[in-house]
Amino acid sequence: MNDRNRHSDSNRPRRGPSGSEGPSDGRLVEVHSQLSRDKDEPAEGFSLTPIFIVFLFCGFGFWAGVYLTNNAGGFSASAFDLDAPKVVVGGGPVVFEPDAAKGEQLFLANCAACHQATGLGVPGAFPPLAKSIWVTGSEDRLIKAILAGFAGEIEVNGVKYNGNMPNIGAGLKDAQVANIATYVRQAWGNAAEPVMDTKVAEIRKAIGNRAQYNPADLLKEHPLETK
Ligand code: HEC
Repeated sequence: MNDRNRHSDSNRPRRGPSGSEGPSDGRLVEVHSQLSRDKDEPAEGFSLTPIFIVFLFCGFGFWAGVYLTNNAGGFSASAFDLDAPKVVVGGGPVVFEPDAAKGEQLFLANCAACHQATGLGVPGAFPPLAKSIWVTGSEDRLIKAILAGFAGEIEVNGVKYNGNMPNIGAGLKDAQVANIATYVRQAWGNAAEPVMDTKVAEIRKAIGNRAQYNPADLLKEHPLETK
């Protein structure tokens, strides 16, 4: 030790009243090892996320999914697409659209046994619907025929028939009759306007639960069009 190192230095441990130089080396080592024992073991790299936090976040994600599913309010991705087709969500009157595809199914189930799927009928027994003015002419006449049926002589495309057609339409809904009428007016090369269910309802109301039409009587109400 020389004098230079002994000049006053406030950072140095003060001398105790006993004159000794602070804690002894042994004491320092002891305190140090005690401190390092109280600290956590130094570990390399990252410490693992506690599993509890992982579950918490997974649970939160799940809850958010359920919440969105229940509260999305029918939001659709096309909500801001001005060109997207407008979908009426619930409510509002359901507008009838004549549907020839549905009409075809109903025709096959209710009419084809006699008039055939080809619409050509059976010679001598069932008249054809293809190219028949009874089909493509007045829709009132066609609807009446389907609702009440026929009995008596009828001439179709120059051929006479005298058969019996039951009142098929009496057991069908307005929309079903309209779809059948629309189908037969547009199948097999026929090209006439579709038929609305409201028209069927109107005619059903007008004729009530009547007997089959004699074709000649029906022609008095709706004469055959001259093409
Ligand atoms: C049980 C057999 C039978 C069924 C089923 C039947 N028809 Fe007819 N249909 C006839 C007969 C028979 C005539 C001719 C009536 C007559 O001679 O007076 C006829 C005539 C017609 C006529 C007028 C003549 C013509 O050929 O254009 C139309 C239209 C017609 N039927 C449509 C239908 C439609 C639509 C259905 C189904 C909803 C149907 N028919 C179901 C037997 C049937």
